[in-house]
Amino acid sequence: MEWLPPVASTFADKVDFVLILVTVISVASCVLIAFLLIYFVIKYRRRSDNDPTPAITGDSFLETLWTVIPTILCIVIFLYGYIYYDEYTTVDKNAYEINVKAQKWMWTFNYPNGKTTLNELYVPINKPIRLVMQSQDVLHSFFIPAFRVKQDLLGNRYTFINFTATKEGIYKIYCTEYCGAGHSDMGGKVHVLSAEKYASWEAGSDEDVVKASADLPLDEVGKGLYQSAGCVACHSIDGSEGGVGPTWKGLFGKNREFDDSSSGTADENYLRESIEIPSAKIVKGYMPVMPAYKGVLNDSQITALIEYIKSLK
Ligand code: CUA
Repeated sequence: MEWLPPVASTFADKVDFVLILVTVISVASCVLIAFLLIYFVIKYRRRSDNDPTPAITGDSFLETLWTVIPTILCIVIFLYGYIYYDEYTTVDKNAYEINVKAQKWMWTFNYPNGKTTLNELYVPINKPIRLVMQSQDVLHSFFIPAFRVKQDLLGNRYTFINFTATKEGIYKIYCTEYCGAGHSDMGGKVHVLSAEKYASWEAGSDEDVVKASADLPLDEVGKGLYQSAGCVACHSIDGSEGGVGPTWKGLFGKNREFDDSSSGTADENYLRESIEIPSAKIVKGYMPVMPAYKGVLNDSQITALIEYIKSLK
């Protein structure tokens, strides 16, 4: 259906069916009631001063009819909802588990073999997937429209999403719970790969991500990471301050004053430390809210980001 997102999971058709069923029932009832309303207003209008209002005392047959039919329709809608929800929440014992961590404002995915990706989720086609999700800070909500799955993430407990992707391709991920200034930039992509492609992706090293763009100069790789690793949510690159974090424009080589009254130069090692352990030095006037990227971004990625910052003179 043209007006709906692509259909790419086993749930998508079911959710669409219920959506269309409820829409058809609602539109049909609305049209019928509006028609009868107008029809009766005209048919039973007061025609003259001595046109008496008929004494209506009720009609058991009609009253039963308009009680029983909507009740049956409601039960049908409930049953579809119940059956599909049950299926959606039932855990497949063979499901492939991926851990999802949400924080302001990015998604981190941890795979069974220890691989980690940022804002880019990789899943094999036709295999039940179970996402085990948790938030590191405020409420977020994980939504993949093409799969018709959505679930809130909380700070103090795990929540889950089960799905089986049915179509290779790249689909969008959204955060659908307002979570602060970077909420609208908190997105990502899910890559549905064939079994063979997934196996080779899984066997590849994290360095491959950087190697794959080996034709690009390092600062160009860093520019891509600026978007995909979520830096864009807090750091401007046009010199505008007032964001959650300092701007990157002209940052390299600048003298920085820290909130403990010490100061230092923004050189390569300072930038590296600030990416890996942001709480080590907090620039005066800013809050210590940046997540640590140690172990999340690898060496080549951090180097690429630093080169990108250097290029923003
Ligand atoms: Cu995370 Cu909105």
